[in-house]
Amino acid sequence: MTTAEAFHPIERSILYALSNKDNLSIDSLAANTGLSIDQIRRGIEWLKFKNLISVEQFSRQRILVAPGGLKATKNGLPERRLVNSLKKGKVNIAEVLAAGDIKNEEINAAIAGARRNHWIELIEGKMIPTHFADNQSPEEGFLTKIIPGIEISKLTQEDRNVLEEIRKRPNYVLIKEEKETLISLTESARQILPTLNREEYEERRLLTPELITSGKWKETRFSSLDVEAPTPVIFPGRRHPLMEIIEEIKEIFIGLGFSEIEGPIIQSSFWNFDALFTPQDHPARELQDTFYISNQTQQPISASKDQITRVSRIHKQRWNRGWDVREGQRPVLRTHTTPVTVQHLAKVKSDAGRFFLIDKVFRNEKLSYKHLAEFYQIEGVAIAPDASLRELIGLQKEFYAKMGLTRIKFWPTFFPYTEPSLQSMVYNERLERWIELFGMGIFRPEVTEPLGIKNRVLAWGGGLERIAMLRFELDDVRELYRNKLAWLRGVPKCQL
Ligand code: PHE
Repeated sequence: MTTAEAFHPIERSILYALSNKDNLSIDSLAANTGLSIDQIRRGIEWLKFKNLISVEQFSRQRILVAPGGLKATKNGLPERRLVNSLKKGKVNIAEVLAAGDIKNEEINAAIAGARRNHWIELIEGKMIPTHFADNQSPEEGFLTKIIPGIEISKLTQEDRNVLEEIRKRPNYVLIKEEKETLISLTESARQILPTLNREEYEERRLLTPELITSGKWKETRFSSLDVEAPTPVIFPGRRHPLMEIIEEIKEIFIGLGFSEIEGPIIQSSFWNFDALFTPQDHPARELQDTFYISNQTQQPISASKDQITRVSRIHKQRWNRGWDVREGQRPVLRTHTTPVTVQHLAKVKSDAGRFFLIDKVFRNEKLSYKHLAEFYQIEGVAIAPDASLRELIGLQKEFYAKMGLTRIKFWPTFFPYTEPSLQSMVYNERLERWIELFGMGIFRPEVTEPLGIKNRVLAWGGGLERIAMLRFELDDVRELYRNKLAWLRGVPKCQL
């Protein structure tokens, strides 16, 4: 931070203005530099932070003459008017008052002042002016020479004592307190100052259209920017962090050669369960896990007769039990994204391909810190003649690494529609434990054959919110949907 280029023009202007002064106020800095008070304030903050200037608060007291004091300057202090009256032949207070030379409320001040100055003596009940009465009193002297607005600190000690006396008289003087901020250079600023050269610098700061068109920019040395300088915090509009993660994951999938697919939220039980080899009496199909659409029973299944027959045949063979088409027709809010995937596979019937989707699924769960009833699932499939578990694991590792998740392990598990089936887990340093990521496996032939898919299909899927929780270090999944402004604002847009 000692090179000349590293300074902002505001900083440089301030440093220059201070270079031949002991200190300057904010106002005089603004006047000296031609910058606005606001710019000066900002510059002061930056330079303070860099320890190049010191900022001190001073207060000063100025003396202003109040109406009482002005009157006394013009007409004389009460004690002066008293002795003047005595000199004209009056002999006591009653006569002085009667002549209108002083007012009732001035009697005390007049007598006290005259006595203090030894201006009067009392002889046989009469007030007689002494020869001292020709002298100017210190207070009179003070009032004649005082320049309104003068600082108390500029007075002599003697004058300050007189001021104290005058202040005892109500409404004679006013003391105005002024606070001022004074800026001065620090020792380290004085050391780097010689390296600054104003004109040269100002040329270098701005990249103008002229510099570009004339080609002069090539010979111009531009100032570097201090990317670590503190800046004001701003809160522009932004996308929800969850939406940002979705975008990020989509990018990753696309980068790996996957294309995005989509499908309806309401599915027939046939596609959500039957085609995925989930028996009709499987507990997952019961109401406590699945949201059925109550007033829309028995929708036609969007599958060919042949597909339905082949799926039902397998169910009957496998579980030695009847298969009820009406159960397959019950519409459900999809409990996972896999029905969308297999329908797509059945439609394209391709021998190779990579597809993914990220979309909402619904489960009849009690809401808790780790469960939502409506959440996002990520799902990917890869069809290939030689698809293998090794390839599946390789794909997973690649995918997770792009998400910044590197400590991964795989665990055997069970899904009705894959064989073998695996569960991936990621180690979380903060929580110091393994967290479940995705379920996966190779679709069983019982799933793919009735749909007319010949090759093997690698498939995996799981919740998005869990990944978001890890990323944002949340302990409660509901935080993602609470939309607290402080949290939304605090989530970094990107992490270094
Ligand atoms: N559908 C599964 C779930 O909801 C995940 C999964 C997808 C498992 C694909 C295997 C294959 O958790």
